[in-house]
Amino acid sequence: MKRILVIHGPNLNLLGTREPEVYGKVTLEEINKQLSGLAGELGVELEAFQSSHEGDIVDKIGQARKSFDAILINPAAYTHTSVAIRDAVAACGLPAVEVHLSNIYGREEFRHKSLIAPVCRGQISGFGLESYLLALRAAFGIVKNERK
Ligand code: DQA
Repeated sequence: MKRILVIHGPNLNLLGTREPEVYGKVTLEEINKQLSGLAGELGVELEAFQSSHEGDIVDKIGQARKSFDAILINPAAYTHTSVAIRDAVAACGLPAVEVHLSNIYGREEFRHKSLIAPVCRGQISGFGLESYLLALRAAFGIVKNERK
C-alpha cells in the first residue's frame, strides 16, 4: 500500500482558536480525521506529523524516503523563509504537494512568495480544510501508478 506523510508546520497545532477569521474554526485533529477518512477511501496509508521546529521538520523529511511514497506539506510560516525545508524536500526526492488553508496570494505581500513551491509538484491554497483533501487526491494521483 502507498504511504503518504502529512507534515503540518508551526502554529497549526493551534487551529480552531488561531485567527479563526483567517483559518476558520477547524482543528488540526479534525483535519487529520478527514484526511484519514479520505485515505481509507483511496486505499493509502497516512502518517500525520506536526512540529513548530524547523530542524525537526527537516529531519522528518530526511527520513521519509525509505518509508513513504509522497509528502503533503503545509510549511506554514516556514513557507516564506525556510531554505532548509526547501532543500530537504528537494533532497528527499519524493513527490511533494504544498498545502495552505488560506489563499497566501490574497494576504500580506510577505506571504506571496513560497520558497517551497518550486520543489513541489504543485500547490493548493485558499480552500480551508478542502485544500488538504484536494492535496491528498493530488498526491494519490501522483503515486498510484508509480513503482518504487
Ligand atoms: C498558512 C499560510 C502561512 O502564510 C501562515 O504562516 C500559516 C498558515 C496557511 O495554511 O494558510 O501559518 O500556511
